[in-house]
Amino acid sequence: MRIDVITIFPGYLDPLREALLGKAVDRGLIEIGVHDLRDWTHDVHRAVDDSPYGGGPGMVMKPQVWGAALDAVCGTDPDRRPRLVVPTPSGRPFTQAVAREYAAEPWLVFACGRYEGIDQRVLDHYAERMPVDEVSIGDYVLVGGEVAVLVIVEAVARLLPGVLGNPASAAEDSFSDGLLEGPCYTRPEVWRGREVPDVLRSGNHAAIARWRRDRALERTFHRRPDLLAALPPEALDRHDRKL
Ligand code: ADE
Repeated sequence: MRIDVITIFPGYLDPLREALLGKAVDRGLIEIGVHDLRDWTHDVHRAVDDSPYGGGPGMVMKPQVWGAALDAVCGTDPDRRPRLVVPTPSGRPFTQAVAREYAAEPWLVFACGRYEGIDQRVLDHYAERMPVDEVSIGDYVLVGGEVAVLVIVEAVARLLPGVLGNPASAAEDSFSDGLLEGPCYTRPEVWRGREVPDVLRSGNHAAIARWRRDRALERTFHRRPDLLAALPPEALDRHDRKL
């Protein structure tokens, strides 16, 4: 997969070269390009923003600069178009399902907005040439899209074949079956007087699977009842319903 990021703070994206992501880059599973938006400015101040039409606080990112940057990064080949992702608090929610969609794409380009956002005409223009997604990572406001890109890229990269050491980890995640994952334990058997639940040491795989499922259901019920309510009826088995 190829990932390009356009930002006025390229250094913010340095973590893309660390840890799991860094290894995936070194192994050629992901190719990453980080581009400084100011490289496409032509004035002495290298301005990327201007005051909003209609008044109001804050600044809006200039369409000319974004147009030049996106033309250069996305190229002009109509047979090779990326999916353009624009992180913004006013976007549709980024979820595990969206992460799975992105993991199936060969090429993602991220446009990091700052200030009040990017002139809407930029997004409308590119939407005629490629899929454009405005996505939010949560109901809070960050100062720019860079941290959201780190979140999205990490969620997507770990779904790519070969990135995780054990592919079952991704398959058994929170959200993969619509439920939150339950608690997990490792050695020692007793720590500060607290014991690992007996069933996990029983060797009875069916009982362990049932116990894990019950804890996942309980946790989801208490912390995210919205997820439980959204499950299709066939996602719950006979034992689940008794809980
Ligand atoms: N930029 C600022 N806030 C954001 C959010 N919550 N999600 C994605 N991008 C953002």
